[in-house]
Amino acid sequence: MTPSTPPRILLGITGGIAAYKSPDLVRRLRDRGAEVQVVMTGAAERFVTRQTFQAVSGRPVRTELWDEAAEAAMGHIELARWAGRVVIAPASADFIARLAAGLADDLLATICLATEAPILLAPAMNRVMWANAATRANIGTLTGRGMRLLGPDDGNQACGDTGAGRMVEPDRMAEAILAGIAGAGLLEGVRMLITAGPTREPIDPVRFISNRSSGKMGFALAAAAVESGAKVRLVAGPVGLPTPAAVERIDVESAEQMLDAVHRHIGQTDIFVAAAAVADYRPASAARDKIKKTAPEMALKLTRAPDILTQVAALANGPFTVGFAAETRDVEKNARAKLEQKQLDMIAANRVGAGSGFDSDQNALTVYWSGGEQELPKTGKRELARALVQIIARRYVTARETAGSR
Ligand code: CTP
Repeated sequence: MTPSTPPRILLGITGGIAAYKSPDLVRRLRDRGAEVQVVMTGAAERFVTRQTFQAVSGRPVRTELWDEAAEAAMGHIELARWAGRVVIAPASADFIARLAAGLADDLLATICLATEAPILLAPAMNRVMWANAATRANIGTLTGRGMRLLGPDDGNQACGDTGAGRMVEPDRMAEAILAGIAGAGLLEGVRMLITAGPTREPIDPVRFISNRSSGKMGFALAAAAVESGAKVRLVAGPVGLPTPAAVERIDVESAEQMLDAVHRHIGQTDIFVAAAAVADYRPASAARDKIKKTAPEMALKLTRAPDILTQVAALANGPFTVGFAAETRDVEKNARAKLEQKQLDMIAANRVGAGSGFDSDQNALTVYWSGGEQELPKTGKRELARALVQIIARRYVTARETAGSR
């Protein structure tokens, strides 16, 4: 784009409390040189006035499909053509549902149907509404049609809840909108298989050995990979997390079951990311009946569980493999040893304990590969996942080019 043609952003505001942040988004987009045309739904006007947006955007705000004077000046089809990019921020659950149904029952929904510009959605809603199966399905439909997601973020919500559903902060959003989306399209069409969460290794029908993994990192990676255009399958151990939009999830319990699921799909995988905290050992045999407390002592005989990552990395013509290493000390030394021993393409190492790593919302990672490394400082797992996906994408493309030129 030349300096004489500023980016044209059509910003749709729908009805949600996060709309109070949208005037700030307009300002930040304009600060970066964009022209912003605001279109509000009726519900949005219950949260912020059109005068506010008119003042910050410097253009009359559009709200009505049936406003003759405004339509005469620039009709809805012209607006749809004018836009270089359509951004819906906040995108409410209701508006997402209307988009998924293909409705054209107000000006903004009509523009979304009539535009050929990329559409970006910044969802904002209560965490339970975001996790609801209806919203999941609608988001899956929309991303399947090529719409892109900006967020949502995790954190405190206006309703007092804490969780996923916060609108991305205006400054970061403005940057992502004008940059394309951070990382968008990097993995277009690439097939990714991700393992996540702990495993449960049965002792008897009611008891098992497991660990503290929450699955948050693997789930955040799956969401970030979808944002980057990948087709994602997620093999999840027992965790209480909602399935990220547009992700195919396969639930398993034990290491054996996780291995089976991975083997079933590895033939259709370009990148394998082992984020699961798979048991290293499992009871040598699980009792068929519940073990009774008759003996004063009991010993549990353990045997090695299958190492899924090692098996995948050893496949001839296998995928690009990324492992994780959780270390309490000598992070680089131990991680590099695993990279070599397991013959991985990349390893993401974190120091566990002291408020990061397992079962925490924040984490820091250092990523190692043969001849390189990159530090990802401590931040929310969602943000960290986006950064890690970008590194994976870059290394994957380099590896493919190198293999192609051999
Ligand atoms: N992994 C796996 N299958 C296993 C064990 C681990 O796929 N049975 C994967 C994990 O998903 C992770 C990596 O291997 O990507 C971790 O390697 P591992 O050698 O298990 O690390 P630690 O458990 O930290 O090993 P150690 O206890 O020897 O340090």
